[in-house]
Amino acid sequence: MNVLVTGGAGYIGSHMVRALLRAGHTVVVLDDLSAGHREAVAPEAVFVEARVEDRETVSRVCEEHGVQAIFHFASRIQVGESVIHPRLYWRDNLAAGVHLLEAALDARVGRFIQSSTAAVYGNPVKVPLDEDHPTAPINPYGETKLAMERMLASYARAYDMKYVALRYFNAAGADAEAGLGERHSPETHLVPLVLDAALGQLPAVTVFGDDYKTPDGTCIRDYVHVSDLADAHLLALGYLEAGGESAAFNLGTGTGHSVREVIDMARKVSGKDVKVVMGSRRAGDPPRLVASPDRAIRTLGWKPTRSSLERIVKDAWAARSR
Ligand code: UFG
Repeated sequence: MNVLVTGGAGYIGSHMVRALLRAGHTVVVLDDLSAGHREAVAPEAVFVEARVEDRETVSRVCEEHGVQAIFHFASRIQVGESVIHPRLYWRDNLAAGVHLLEAALDARVGRFIQSSTAAVYGNPVKVPLDEDHPTAPINPYGETKLAMERMLASYARAYDMKYVALRYFNAAGADAEAGLGERHSPETHLVPLVLDAALGQLPAVTVFGDDYKTPDGTCIRDYVHVSDLADAHLLALGYLEAGGESAAFNLGTGTGHSVREVIDMARKVSGKDVKVVMGSRRAGDPPRLVASPDRAIRTLGWKPTRSSLERIVKDAWAARSR
């Protein structure tokens, strides 16, 4: 199939591009390189440097390449930034998404796979979270991702378009063999920060609170390997091709790990010390976020086979220390 990947030069997008190519698809990457890295794009993919809201370019590219499905990764992803600068999120995540869908309709692209997030749920009222958990985001990042899902739902009812929204929990790990890793600027995610501390590139990692009601007092998250995420997207494409109904799926493992467990695993995997500084709680961090991935497992046939904490940290370490 011919597919367009927005944000294909970014962390998850670049892994997706490799997975799509390996599965025999023809891939066009659209990325403005504001956060992505040109060298992360597989050479077999066509690369177009453009912004998602550039409707004319996107519809032309879709027509030219006979694009049949769009994977939409390009977006802003920092919860804290979204609280301080919400306009960036409504503009780049939602308004740009409106233009992208206009282009998709112009070019009659009938399948859309949206990168969504556990942040659409807000504070969990019940853990593990399944897809029927109330959606009540507590920051503009989650609000804009939920708004995208709602837009897709109404388009899917009205137009010849089907979508899958994949709600990622904590994406981590890397395909080091393919030369890919996780590189954000600034980096705010736990796993790369802990590995930087192991490498001595950071003096220490700050733990954001150890007075939560969890066994070791630190927050628990559901870490999922980026290559397992890519698998789920491939399955989602197959599901839509087979006539599956538009739907949202959680992508997590159902198992949570605390911040301390992540740090201990990084020490074990790297054989290096990781210095820790105790900090205060970060605003908006729920104590425990763990997915129920049952729907993705049952409906898509997804198997997150690489998402043990050890494998995630090992692969991230191999990429980071390269
Ligand atoms: N943490 C630290 N120190 C750090 C960085 C993080 O203690 O320097 C802690 C956080 O408090 C949190 C855990 O490590 O408990 C994981 O934090 P991340 O920033 O790596 O990830 P989040 O859980 O905050 O966010 C992730 C995604 C978001 C998504 C969210 C879903 O990155 O895009 O999950 O709620 F919205």
